[in-house]
Amino acid sequence: MTVIVIAGGLSHERDVSLRSGRRVAQALRDAGLDVLETDVNADLVGLIRSTDDAVVVPMLHGGLGEDGALREVLEILGVPFVGPTGASSRLTFDKAIATSVVRGAGLATPRQIALPHDIFRELGAPALMEGIGAQLGYPLVVKPTRSGSALGVTKVDSPAALPSALVAAYAYGTVAVVEQYLSGVEIAVTVLDLGDGATALPPVEIRPESGVYNYESRYTAGATRFVTPAELPDDVLAAAGELAVAAHRALGLRHLSRVDMIVEPDGRPVFFEGNVAPGMTETSLAPLAFEAAGLELSDVFARLVDLARG
Ligand code: DAL
Ligand code: MG
Repeated sequence: MTVIVIAGGLSHERDVSLRSGRRVAQALRDAGLDVLETDVNADLVGLIRSTDDAVVVPMLHGGLGEDGALREVLEILGVPFVGPTGASSRLTFDKAIATSVVRGAGLATPRQIALPHDIFRELGAPALMEGIGAQLGYPLVVKPTRSGSALGVTKVDSPAALPSALVAAYAYGTVAVVEQYLSGVEIAVTVLDLGDGATALPPVEIRPESGVYNYESRYTAGATRFVTPAELPDDVLAAAGELAVAAHRALGLRHLSRVDMIVEPDGRPVFFEGNVAPGMTETSLAPLAFEAAGLELSDVFARLVDLARG
């Protein structure tokens, strides 16, 4: 068997993906497996097809990777891979669709409006500022529907700041989501299913020194303090774990995912996104959850490879 770790890719999260890929490839080598690392290019399908007994570990983040495209190609090729299927990746990666699916399962989500660029152009900023303010109130958060690592995400405190936040989100795609701002404690819950059912690992609490968990505070060593398990009452930790597993199931995910949420001041966790290829860099969240659960990264991925292979 050869494990093919695919990292890099064409999205804005390329650098992050290369870092995740390197770490996971090394972890799999440490587990004694034969590992090939590759980027996304025109030779990718040929490489996979010419590799005997290949199992793929997709470590691409962002579009054309985490959006299901690569996984659908692997499904067509009949090559086993670690992580959620193409279809479930596609719906999870889109924040508007994922939120609606999770809400439909009866779970707590923020109020949200999806706003295609065409509508923004047609209605104009003043009408939108008024309409959105009336529906959601301020502050708000504006995000691209299909991106990651907080790229293009802006907190908007007043109507006047809404147009530029939308423009920033449209730099990453043609649809933005405008969402109710939730104040509280931000936590990330990694969900792992090694074949015996989905389990929530200890929630990681995120405390960025700057107060904002943006790209810089995600990928600069020391810029964010992480507390694992989160400093929250036991019943809140349990509710966060239940929400993560329920969202993972509602989105049809398998093997490994990370569910991000805000715990509101009254202790209620609220879903805000699922991640089908959680970051595995030195400053990423899922590896902290593995460590807190007493799991080695190399052991987790070696077992996921076995599971994918069936
Ligand atoms: N989108 C980044 C890689 C993460 O969720 O960790
Ligand atoms: Mg994400």
